[in-house]
Amino acid sequence: MKVTIVGAGNVGSTCADAIAYKRIASEVVLLDIKKDFAEGKALDMTQTSSLLGFNTKIVGSTNDYSKTAGSDVVVVTSGIPRKPGMTREELIGVNAGIVKTVTNNVLEHSPDAVIVIVSNPMDTMTYLTLKESGLDKHRIIGMGGALDSARFRTYLSFALGKPSSDIHGMVIGGHGDTTMIPLTRLATYNGISISNLLDKDHLDKVASETMVGGKTLTGLLGTSAWYAPGAAVAFLVDSILNDQKRIIPCSVFLDGEYGQKDICVGVPVIVGKNGWENIVDVDLNELEKDLFEKSANAVRNMNSALDSI
Ligand code: NAI
Ligand code: 2OP
Repeated sequence: MKVTIVGAGNVGSTCADAIAYKRIASEVVLLDIKKDFAEGKALDMTQTSSLLGFNTKIVGSTNDYSKTAGSDVVVVTSGIPRKPGMTREELIGVNAGIVKTVTNNVLEHSPDAVIVIVSNPMDTMTYLTLKESGLDKHRIIGMGGALDSARFRTYLSFALGKPSSDIHGMVIGGHGDTTMIPLTRLATYNGISISNLLDKDHLDKVASETMVGGKTLTGLLGTSAWYAPGAAVAFLVDSILNDQKRIIPCSVFLDGEYGQKDICVGVPVIVGKNGWENIVDVDLNELEKDLFEKSANAVRNMNSALDSI
C-alpha cells in the first residue's frame, strides 16, 4: 500500500512519520518543490526505523512525480500555512493555484488514487479539486473534521478531567474558526451523555475553545499547528488503506444531504478503501440545523472567490 504526501513541510512530514511508525502503509513518498527538502526528511525518518521498529519505505522527491506512481492515497498539504492574524481563508489565491497543479500531476501517475485535501481553506480546496479533476466524488476527501474533533475531545477531557480516549464527540461544518460546529449535545464519556456531566457554561466554553483551536496554536507557534493535523491525516489514511470503515467527519461533496447542494463541507462519513462511502445522517436539532446552514453559506461564499482566480 503506497501513500504519496505532497508538501514535506510541517504537516506533510508529521503525517509521513505517523504513517511509517504506525505501519499504516508499506511505502510513503514525500514530495516537495523545495530542492532536496523531501529527500532530507525521508532519510531522517528512515533512520528512526530501527529505533521505532518499522519497515515502511520512505522516499523523498523534489517535484519528480514519477516516484509517486501507483499510489493508493495522495495527501495534498502543499501550500502556504497560516501566520498569526491570518485566517485560513486568506490563503485562497496562492493555495488554489498550487492545489490545482499538484492534483493534475499526481493523477497523471496515480489515476486511481483517493485524494485527501489538507491545504487551506480546506473546504474550498476540496471543492476546487473535485470540480477541476472531474473525479468520482467519493475519491475526494477534505481533512478538517478529524482534527477539529480531536481538539474537541481534548478540551472535553480537560473540562471533565478524564482521558480523551474515553470521550467521543464530533465537529461538523466548515473548517473555520466561525464555521465549525462542535456537537456538544451528542458528546459522550464512556456512553454517558456529557450534557449530564458539564453545565451549559462549561459546554459553551469547550465549544469556543475548540472553534479557535487552530488560531490559539498559530498564536503560540507563529505558524499553524502540525502534530495533531499530521496525526489526524494519518488516522484518516489508515481508515482508507485498511478499509476500516470508521465514521469520520470529513469535507465531502453534498448533493442534497443535510439540506445542501454543490458544496464540500464537513459531515460524518464512513471511510474505507474506495474513499468516503456513505454520509451518516445525524439527527440534528433545529439550532444545529441552523448553524449548519450558516456554516455552509459561509463556505459557499468562500467558494465564490474561486471565480476571480
Ligand atoms: P509548510 O509551509 O510547513 O509546508 C508546506 C510545504 O508545501 C512546503 O514545504 C512547501 O515547499 C511545499 N510546497 C509549496 N508549493 C508546492 C508545490 N507546488 N508542490 C509541492 N510542494 C509545494 O506548511 P504546513 O504547516 O505543513 O501547512 C500546509 C497546509 O496545510 C497549509 O495550507 C495549512 O493551512 C494547511 N493546514 C490544514 C489543516 C487542516 O486541518 N485541513 C491543519 C493544518 C494545516
Ligand atoms: C489548523 O486548524 C490552521 O487549519 C489549521 O490548525
